[in-house]
Amino acid sequence: MKALVLAGGKGTRLKPITNTVAKQLLPVANKPILCYVLDQIKEAGISDIGIIISPDTGPSIKEALGSGSLWDVDITYILQSEPLGLAHAVTTARDFLSDSLFLMFLGDNLIQGGVSEFVHRFTSETPDALILLKEVADPRLFGVAELNGQGDIIHLVEKPKEPKSNLALVGAYLFTPEIHQAIAHIRPSWRGELEITDAIQRLLDTGKKVRSHVLEGWWLDTGKKDDLLEANRVVLDELIQRSVEGEVDSQSEIVGRVELRKGARVQNSTIRGPASIAEGCQIVNSFVGPFTSVGPGTIVEDSAVEHSVILERSHICGIERLADSLVGTRVSIRKTGDKLRAVKAFVGCDSTLEL
Ligand code: TTP
Repeated sequence: MKALVLAGGKGTRLKPITNTVAKQLLPVANKPILCYVLDQIKEAGISDIGIIISPDTGPSIKEALGSGSLWDVDITYILQSEPLGLAHAVTTARDFLSDSLFLMFLGDNLIQGGVSEFVHRFTSETPDALILLKEVADPRLFGVAELNGQGDIIHLVEKPKEPKSNLALVGAYLFTPEIHQAIAHIRPSWRGELEITDAIQRLLDTGKKVRSHVLEGWWLDTGKKDDLLEANRVVLDELIQRSVEGEVDSQSEIVGRVELRKGARVQNSTIRGPASIAEGCQIVNSFVGPFTSVGPGTIVEDSAVEHSVILERSHICGIERLADSLVGTRVSIRKTGDKLRAVKAFVGCDSTLEL
């Protein structure tokens, strides 16, 4: 069995940060999303992994993951020259996939508890496809499955105006080579993309066996800023253990589940977990509140930061409250006036904000 990770795409909904950073490399609890995906594929016992990359962000993805030796897996990079849809990505990977069964995993999705159980069910029941579903509050935003009384899928609709169920398609799918035939028969949608939902619908229409598995745990699709902050909140809450390896002076307090990595320094500040402070950060005269991840080499001075993700080598200075924010690499946000300010920011890399 092989795995195909989709890490191309445009990342339009996360612009401006995706102008310079691949969305799949954005950190959640200070670890790139794609690394969680590889952990879970490896855990499911798959070590032959193809990764779809785009011309713009492919080089940075290659640099971050290398040959896969960190996971003891083999990675083959597959260039998709244009983001023409999830099913197009499968076609692009046709040579790599050959006639294997495969797990297709969207590189910007996080699934609680991984996919091992799902893979096991697929290999023991051998349907033509197995799709993962999750109950969601607003199904109109997703691909939605309509089931009959026995729980079999009868219809799939992409972003329906009047959804027939609240079961959304999660970004992990298991396919036999039958999917290639199905993709060969579909046409681009109104968005100009070859949709994987249309290909699965084609499997259904041609009498193939498509099973579903409803996920109990959380599923996070990090496609937009607030989704990424939510993923950071959930993962910090669930995975972060207290580990204080950086330096903390006697005027500072580290409260609760805080990861303070080696080489980070905290002076006259309070850090209240769950939070992750990466290597080389300096937190000075500041408060870092729950559900915050601060990337390597970032400086937070005379500020309070909560429920935010800050990437590498940024500088936050004199901001009374920075909250619900996503801040890129090498960003400077500082106060120049006297008034108290609460700031909620979504700032791309290499920006300067003087408030
Ligand atoms: P999407 O989030 O559906 O698309 P996108 O990344 O282009 O983002 P936006 O809609 O904001 O422009 O993609 C889901 C995952 O699949 C993501 O990791 C990118 C990847 N992908 C490809 O690899 N190739 C493609 O052609 C598309 C559309 C997505």
